[in-house]
This record gives sequence, C-alpha cells and structure tokens, in this order.
Amino acid sequence: MRRYSQREAAAAVCVAYGTLGRWLREGKVSEVARDRNGYRVFTQDDVDRIAAYKSSLKPAPRRAKPIKRAQDAPTGYKVASFFSGIGGFEVGFEDAGFEVAFQCEVEPFCRKILERHWPKVPRWDDIATLDHATIPISDVWVGGFPCQDLSLARM
Ligand SMILES: C[S@@+](CC[C@H](N)C(=O)[O-])C[C@H]1O[C@@H](n2cnc3c(N)ncnc32)[C@H](O)[C@@H]1O
Repeated sequence: MRRYSQREAAAAVCVAYGTLGRWLREGKVSEVARDRNGYRVFTQDDVDRIAAYKSSLKPAPRRAKPIKRAQDAPTGYKVASFFSGIGGFEVGFEDAGFEVAFQCEVEPFCRKILERHWPKVPRWDDIATLDHATIPISDVWVGGFPCQDLSLARM
C-alpha cells in the first residue's frame, strides 16, 4: 500500500508542507501514524481525508475590503515599485490613496499579473538594466528585494 511522507502528502493535496503541519498540530485534521524515527507516515486514506478537509474550506476572500483605487481617494502622491512581484505593496499604497507610477519586475509570471492589474503603468524588467532617468518622478520608492542572501533561514 502506498505510503506518503508529509512532503509527499502535502504535494498530493496541493497545500504547503507547513500548512499541512499546522492543520495536524491544530487538530483540523486528525494525526497520522509515525515511523520509528518519529516522522509522520500518511496512508492513502489519510491523504483522501485531508483532501476532503481541504475541499470543505471556503476560499478566502481575495481582499478584506473592496479595492479603493487612487482615483477614489486621491492624495496626489505617487509610488514607484521595484521588485514588484505581484504588486502587494502597490495594493497597500493604492488603499492609502497613492497612484502607482512605475513598476520593475523581472519574472514573466509576475509581470503578467502586474500587466493585468496595472495595464497602464510603465514597467521595466531587469533592474540591473534600468536607466534611472526613465523612472517617473515619484514621492515614494518601495521595493521588497530578494532576501535569500541575507535571510537568517540560511544560517
Ligand atoms: C520578495 S519578492 C517581492 C514581492 C512583492 N513585494 C509582492 O508584493 O509580490 C522579490 C521580487 O524581486 C524580483 N526580482 C528578482 N531579481 C530582479 C531583477 N534583477 N529585476 C527586477 N526584479 C527582480 C523577483 O522576481 C521577485 O518577484
């Protein structure tokens, strides 16, 4: 009979490894057997049970509050975003009444999301080739740059 590690079970159910661990710790799904080294061992029944729990969850609302675009509450301030990802900072700044003036993001997947939500905003891909003179005048520059080389998680 097929046995799954926690990582394999999480992948089979399409949730993050940590999310599955939290569901187990918090009793959202009942615990599974452990092997002699103390690692969880999931049967197919366990995986099916966890998948059923996941299907029973209501999808989280996409946003807690309705989108308030800068034009609804203009402050006149502009924000330029670097390492934009999928635009998390932009959403917060727009909620505060800022207009997004510029974005810079290299990942094609992220760029598609940005293009969809901010179709009119000028955008650049690789920051290493960005000419600063092309960045529109902005009141705030924001950037959540990649932190892998600084992260304590690597120590
Ligand atoms: C920590 S994430 C930022 C997440 C973002 N704050 C959000 O709300 O989604 C860092 C981002 O920097 C982007 N990035 C990495 N190297 C880059 C480069 N050379 N030029 C532009 N963006 C880059 C990555 O693709 C990634 O999306």
